[in-house]
Amino acid sequence: MPAKGAQVDVIVGGGVVGLSVAWRLAREGRPVTVVDPAPGRGASWAAAGMLAPVSEVTYTEGPLLRLGVAALRRWPAFAAELAADAGLTAGARGLDLRSEGTLDVAFGADDMAALGELATYMENLGLQVDRLTGRECRRLEPMLAPSVRGGVLAAGDAWVDPRRVTAALLAALERRGVPVVRARAAGLLREGGRVAGVRLAPPSPEEAHDAGEVRGERVVLAAGAWSPELAEAPVRPVKGQILRLRSDRPLLGRCVRGTVHGSSVYLVPRGDGELVVGATQEEMGFDTRVTAGGLYELLRDARELVPGVTELEVADVVAGLRPGTPDNLPLIGPGRTPGLAYATGHHRGGVLLAPLTTAILLGEESELAALCAPGRFREIS
Ligand code: GLY
Repeated sequence: MPAKGAQVDVIVGGGVVGLSVAWRLAREGRPVTVVDPAPGRGASWAAAGMLAPVSEVTYTEGPLLRLGVAALRRWPAFAAELAADAGLTAGARGLDLRSEGTLDVAFGADDMAALGELATYMENLGLQVDRLTGRECRRLEPMLAPSVRGGVLAAGDAWVDPRRVTAALLAALERRGVPVVRARAAGLLREGGRVAGVRLAPPSPEEAHDAGEVRGERVVLAAGAWSPELAEAPVRPVKGQILRLRSDRPLLGRCVRGTVHGSSVYLVPRGDGELVVGATQEEMGFDTRVTAGGLYELLRDARELVPGVTELEVADVVAGLRPGTPDNLPLIGPGRTPGLAYATGHHRGGVLLAPLTTAILLGEESELAALCAPGRFREIS
């Protein structure tokens, strides 16, 4: 039961980040309301769900690696608690949480050289990776093309099905009686120099008088790429197209990613035989069209790595908008205006970083919180 007179939090955004924050606050006994016109249907719907801080590491992103490693550590407990709270009889397996690692493979000589350099960088950071020959890669994943030259196994990486995660979060919130208002937040309510809730967009222009509002002592902005519609936020949409392929039996036993003549692709297997192939990275504004060119590139590269993908049925194609920031780190914590907090800008890592985001908002990770402090940017409300 929420304490009498306790602060009410309004979470704007029902993706994996916003719903995780709401669920965690509700578990702490705090009154919370979620506002989203279509919960679970934004970037989380398109996400592959890689919990892969090691295999996704890039040369310039040491701080992001620290966040990712800390977030991955939180995932097993987060998944087990969520599964129990949502009433999933299969436990965390009901979220398709798997931890067989990521195999990063190279196709051409240049790709192999680049992967070798990346492996050295990973080793210098103290990350646990194994360098494999092409034959060793195929022993792990027999469906890999004979032309794969070698690879690097990040055995500690994991993955999860984000659609199952958001469905479980919504079920857990419902069981806890948390209101989920299915409407678009059109603006912040401001009173006496502080944020006091959100104004809702009317269901249609004819019903403008029905617009309504949700009041609260704190608004947590978790609206992903749409965050700048409500408050100043250096967040931009980064389009990602993915394909979901279906087969009777799993083609791969772990996540496989690869670089084919400089362009990268990943394949994420689900327990039910589905294979997710992603993802493009495009600076196209708020464009969510799935294009022939985008799908062509994904399939072309996926087929080079795993020729059998062309036999699979296409189940779904989708484009989502990652919320990118100038330094690729998320914005988590209070803004400059009293009553406003940020939980947005997670770019390529929303699913991975969701449990850590809630911990940072609750003040449990002060060192990592400094990396994500919204105040590092001037354009913050
Ligand atoms: N984390 C994978 C992606 O954003 O495509």
